[in-house]
Amino acid sequence: MAPSTLTELAGKETLQASFVRDEDERPKVAYNQFSDEIPVISLAGINYVGEKRAEICQKIVEACENWGIFQVVDHGVDTKLISEMTRLAREFFALPAEDKLRFDMSGGKKGGFIVSSHLQGETVQDWREIVTYFSYPIKSRDYSRWPDMPEGWIEVTKEYSDKLMGLACKLLEVLSEAMGLEKEALSKACVEMDQKVVVNFYPKCPQPDLTLGLKRHTDPGTITLLLQDQVGGLQATRDNGNTWITVQPVEGAFVVNLGDHGHLGINCDEQYLSNGRFKNADHQAVVNSDCSRLSIATFQNPAPDATVYPLKIREGEKPILEEPITFAEMYRRKMSKDLELAMLKKLAK
Ligand code: SIN
Ligand code: FE2
Repeated sequence: MAPSTLTELAGKETLQASFVRDEDERPKVAYNQFSDEIPVISLAGINYVGEKRAEICQKIVEACENWGIFQVVDHGVDTKLISEMTRLAREFFALPAEDKLRFDMSGGKKGGFIVSSHLQGETVQDWREIVTYFSYPIKSRDYSRWPDMPEGWIEVTKEYSDKLMGLACKLLEVLSEAMGLEKEALSKACVEMDQKVVVNFYPKCPQPDLTLGLKRHTDPGTITLLLQDQVGGLQATRDNGNTWITVQPVEGAFVVNLGDHGHLGINCDEQYLSNGRFKNADHQAVVNSDCSRLSIATFQNPAPDATVYPLKIREGEKPILEEPITFAEMYRRKMSKDLELAMLKKLAK
């Protein structure tokens, strides 16, 4: 009988075939071969107008132009809240399969538990279990899809979502100002900003060199805030996507990365709101055979019907888009491009 959750496969000696990736997709760099190249920026002083704020803003802008990914510390989100959120998340994934499967998301349900998701058109499975919540706008909350175990998690998640919405808006203000726009420009471009929380659990893996926890991708939305534990496994690229580096975990930090809408583009070659000035980070998660890993990604996305078009076109630049489209259309185009690439890959085999 097929195992019902991934945790049950973690104890096996070999990897189930459905997780084995083609050679060109397999990890090139180990989960714990850390690089400190990704900037780590302290936000202490960001709330007060002055030299210190200008300095922080400059660092953020440079990180967005060069990498599209950076880490923030002194971000104002309470360390106790962060440790409660991670403790409860770990406890959820440690529950017996039948408890987790009460929130099974298959069949198009909005939010809940998924065993090894994969992107459209993909046949190879990711080595991860996830639980996901739609937290903003408030009307999108369906608490029947939010796990009620372990006790207290719903309350903690609500608070976590609020605090992260605040942090994301602060970062978007900096980027708006960097483009020479009013502070609220990027938030307004999102209309009523969506927020989705995805908690990733990557169990120990019998053959981590053959698989990925999460396949290479760019996030579709505006900005993502990722909390990761100290294990390591998040990888980003440099040299135009040719070299992988493993992001050094920093205790209590959030990894911030720009998505297609913030960069804002589709599959690394088109960029929308910033007209290509800020990068959308290409990233993936690798796994290991030593221990499990937890990460919590908070995605800040525009409303589906928000209009997407560059907010700032600098002198001599051409707009990336011929005409405005909705975020839903932008997402649809990304998905069909991914599907097309997956089909071409299958045909080439
Ligand atoms: C993600 O890209 O959503 C998660 C990456 C990670 O777990 O490091
Ligand atoms: Fe991602």
